[in-house]
Amino acid sequence: MIQLRWALSLAILAFCSTPLLAIERSTSWDAPLEAQQRKNPIPPTQDSIGRGILVYAKNCQVCHGSRGDGDGPSSQSFGVATTNFLNPSTQRQSDGSLYWKITVGRRAMPNWQLRLSEEDRWHVINFLRTMNQHGGTHDDARSK
Ligand code: HEC
Repeated sequence: MIQLRWALSLAILAFCSTPLLAIERSTSWDAPLEAQQRKNPIPPTQDSIGRGILVYAKNCQVCHGSRGDGDGPSSQSFGVATTNFLNPSTQRQSDGSLYWKITVGRRAMPNWQLRLSEEDRWHVINFLRTMNQHGGTHDDARSK
């Protein structure tokens, strides 16, 4: 009887933890289609990019690095790699997609919904788009 109970609780444990493990292991992170199609309401003016720089320096640089290459001082302490914004896989995504990710977060990436205003989230995206020019250079070995 006791053995049966053990077997049963092990089975329940295995059943319950499988979906969790699957989520933890998955690496692809896609915004819902509706979020991807959302347009950035703020044009990338110098003013907007300037605000984006301030938001970034204060909130994002510690993990994503001063050049956006994912090499900030805190990036070492996470099990998951901090995103390198210079990657084409990030730059290819729509503003709406990045906005959604910044808003909801995942794993070590905080969610900024309550910490940043909507405008500040769009400003920081306008800045991220300029990072190839401002930040990593092509001869920088780390910005692969
Ligand atoms: C505590 C560390 C940390 C901070 C602070 C942080 N991030 Fe992240 N960010 C991450 C990690 C780790 C990931 C990868 C998450 C994953 O894939 O599960 C990530 C992913 C992202 C992505 C998704 C990129 C992609 O290609 O899918 C965006 C966009 C992003 N961060 C923007 C920001 C912005 C903007 C800020 C500041 C407002 C910020 N992050 C602050 C750790 C951080």
